[in-house]
Amino acid sequence: MNILIIGSGAREHAMAWAAMRSGKVSKVFTAPGNGGTAMMGGKVRNVPINATDVEALLDFAASERIDLTIVGPEQPLEVGVVNRFREAGRKIIGPTKEAARLETSKVFAKEFMERHHIPTAGYHVFHDAPTANNYVSAEAASWPQVIKASGICAGKGVIIAQNRDEAVSANNSMFLDRIFGQAADEVVIEDFLHGQEASVFALTDGKEYRLFLPAQDHKRIGDGDTGKNTGGMGAYAPAPLVTPEVMKKIEDRVIRPTLDGMAAEGYPYTGFLYVGLMIDGGEPSVVEYNARLGDPETQVVLPLLKSDFIDALSACFDGSLADVPFEMHAGAGATVVMASAGYPDEYETGKAISIDASVNDLDGVLVFHAGTKSDGAGLVTSGGRVLSVTACGGSLREAIDRAYRGIGKIGFEGAVYRRDIGAKAL
Ligand code: AMP
Ligand code: GLY
Repeated sequence: MNILIIGSGAREHAMAWAAMRSGKVSKVFTAPGNGGTAMMGGKVRNVPINATDVEALLDFAASERIDLTIVGPEQPLEVGVVNRFREAGRKIIGPTKEAARLETSKVFAKEFMERHHIPTAGYHVFHDAPTANNYVSAEAASWPQVIKASGICAGKGVIIAQNRDEAVSANNSMFLDRIFGQAADEVVIEDFLHGQEASVFALTDGKEYRLFLPAQDHKRIGDGDTGKNTGGMGAYAPAPLVTPEVMKKIEDRVIRPTLDGMAAEGYPYTGFLYVGLMIDGGEPSVVEYNARLGDPETQVVLPLLKSDFIDALSACFDGSLADVPFEMHAGAGATVVMASAGYPDEYETGKAISIDASVNDLDGVLVFHAGTKSDGAGLVTSGGRVLSVTACGGSLREAIDRAYRGIGKIGFEGAVYRRDIGAKAL
């Protein structure tokens, strides 16, 4: 089989790695890929096509006889890559743009959850600053309140306001200063959920689904969950917080009603469904949906998948998802993100990256690239999140120790990473 993976992050590098482990795969193309996917050997090739250039992707899939396309990030979903590939009769893993509204419109997601009695924070929707400011001044009963741009903003569209003044300033920045542009034409203000976060991922054909191991992301830049929100600085799996009992509640109260609800409304949801949850006293509530796998969570959940990834994806098309093996390795995994100095704000790129070849000899360690590229002379940084160093082990402790040993073999000027990935679970 020939596989096309759309995207350029460490998530897509991990997908390419998982695809290459399948006996059935002859070639993997990553569009546009990164410095890591460029170095995977002859069977993996970067293609210089932008992830949202749907027509060019479709032409490429036809000319290279691609058997299966996998969509990594949300932007191509929002512009309808899945709709277009399906119209052209091409197999692609992901939701249509209508189904992807679970991620691309927080207003749609909240109203959908309300219609289907899926547990989530109470909320109101606003279309202008005066009404939103009036609400936080007069009616919002409790603090903090969470103010969210409805559209996609690369994980940055959420402001947690501790009091009325902060809420008014958040409303004004979204509606008047337009800091998120059109993504904040509609704004959701919701109640703050207490508890611990976990991410659950399902692969679904719209009816049946299979679950990956539950993971926990680390969104803040600093140790101890301090500082700014990022795209994610590290993750581990399985998250012990999601006990089998909690997982059963998530399946019964969230995943099953989400799939049934989307089908009943005429937009069957297919592909990867990411449910971001807050768990409080064993009771799950939905914080957000994403229409894709998480980054950096993918970098731990895919290495922990023992069964053949491509077999499972293929089964998604022939109605045999319930029958295909979908087993996990015992033990645990951790991934630690190395970022550029300054991330998630301004950062410099073009810093030379040194990776000691002995990293390949470390047990269970995998180095997935994100913001890297080759400048001819060697590998240099080209983004905020640069690398995601993953390790699996018999225990979470072992996985974490191995991942940090891997980090010790890699260097670039100003590299920033958290020292406490997974510490909460130990
Ligand atoms: P989202 O983009 O909706 O995932 O929000 C980003 C982050 O903001 C989440 O991962 C949470 O840490 C936090 N967050 C969002 N909504 C809430 C909420 N209702 N209560 C508490 N924290 C929240
Ligand atoms: N890890 C958060 C995300 O992928 O959105």
